[in-house]
Amino acid sequence: MSDPIDSSATLGIVGAGTMGTGIAQIAAANGHQVHLYDAYPEQLATSEAGLRQILAKQVEKGRMTQQQMDTLLGRINWTDHTLSFSKCSLVIEAIVENLDIKKDQFARLEAIVPKDCILATNTSSLSIASISSALKRPDRFLGIHFFNPAPLMKLVEIIPGIATSAETVQKARTQIDAWGKVTVLAKDTPGFIVNRVARPFYGEALRIYEEGIADAPTIDWAMKTIGGFRMGPFELMDLIGHDVNYAVTETVFRNFYYDPRFRPSFTQKRLVEAGWLGRKSGRGFYDYPTENPPEPLTDEGLGREIFERILAMLINEAFDAVFMNIASRKEVDLAMLFGVNYPKGLIDWAEEWGFAQVLARLEHLNALYGEDRYRVNPLLRRVVHNGDSV
Ligand SMILES: NC(=O)c1ccc[n+]([C@@H]2O[C@H](COP(=O)([O-])OP(=O)(O)OC[C@H]3O[C@@H](n4cnc5c(N)ncnc54)[C@H](O)[C@@H]3O)[C@@H](O)[C@H]2O)c1
Repeated sequence: MSDPIDSSATLGIVGAGTMGTGIAQIAAANGHQVHLYDAYPEQLATSEAGLRQILAKQVEKGRMTQQQMDTLLGRINWTDHTLSFSKCSLVIEAIVENLDIKKDQFARLEAIVPKDCILATNTSSLSIASISSALKRPDRFLGIHFFNPAPLMKLVEIIPGIATSAETVQKARTQIDAWGKVTVLAKDTPGFIVNRVARPFYGEALRIYEEGIADAPTIDWAMKTIGGFRMGPFELMDLIGHDVNYAVTETVFRNFYYDPRFRPSFTQKRLVEAGWLGRKSGRGFYDYPTENPPEPLTDEGLGREIFERILAMLINEAFDAVFMNIASRKEVDLAMLFGVNYPKGLIDWAEEWGFAQVLARLEHLNALYGEDRYRVNPLLRRVVHNGDSV
């Protein structure tokens, strides 16, 4: 087995947008020379100016020196061609989320990079297998999925495809670990870990809202004040953008062969159709800037019911990820702690709450609605009834 990539290694990044620029910042901060390529020259200028501004703020706040900033920027070569990728030992792609464009990009990259160069995609929703079909040597290809903002979010999902070699996985993981990230290994399935397990945070909140059980401020209040989440589901959807959040939900739903657990909400679809995309359009569930935020109904009993219903659905999804061998219990918990900043790992949280309590909550929902959406994961049943370990 060859040595892990070291900090003197040269990295290539394709796509100088939000994610590509963030990943370049991480790599440069860790001592790498980085070639950051984009097909659109104006995007290269925007990326460089944006990163300068972010780093200048860090200098202003005393978090880094001017010299450190200059050194970091000096390591990044913003470029409109990929010829310099012939010297790279790792290339991470972060271009538009389109399968044909990504496949075309990798086929061209493969002809340029050295034979032992690892090729990775930062895709959120495409399968690693589908992109790898463009490569002659898919054994050196895998998913390396960062979260936004990449320099701040600690989690990175490592996703081997059907043809990825064990050596590629080990080298890539060692490299990303060396950057101080928390890596988790996930199966090449829709949403990987985080974007699959997190769906009920939005979906169940929307369902509670649609049933008229509570309004958005009350559900947000319950999740923050009783649940300890940093943001409520509606505030968070407004921040992410309803177009983006709805697209992820719809993709996961379609890719799971229309499993009702992941069915998108009409309420959110209407917001997208109306152009009420959240903060970025000035209006979503809330108006922005929020001058007089609507008051929640701070009823403790109602709040607890809302929080427990959403949490039970999240835990059910976390159990499903373990049950289907998407990742281990430990990795599913780490993923939600560091990929979406949940206050606790979901399965640890279930244990603390009591597995039997969670099961009872889900069985109640299942009996009440009789919908497949509320079916209880078999692993949770086994843990409660047979004493199986998880
Ligand atoms: N934004 C997120 O929250 C997030 C999180 C994790 C993963 N991702 C994934 O990362 C990838 C990039 O997302 P983003 O949010 O940074 O997008 P973005 O729109 O900010 O950036 C994409 C960049 O790719 C460039 N580009 C487009 N087509 C190209 C091509 N053919 N060749 C070279 N450059 C090209 C664009 O000019 C743009 O600069 C996507 O696959 C997305 O699913 C995004």
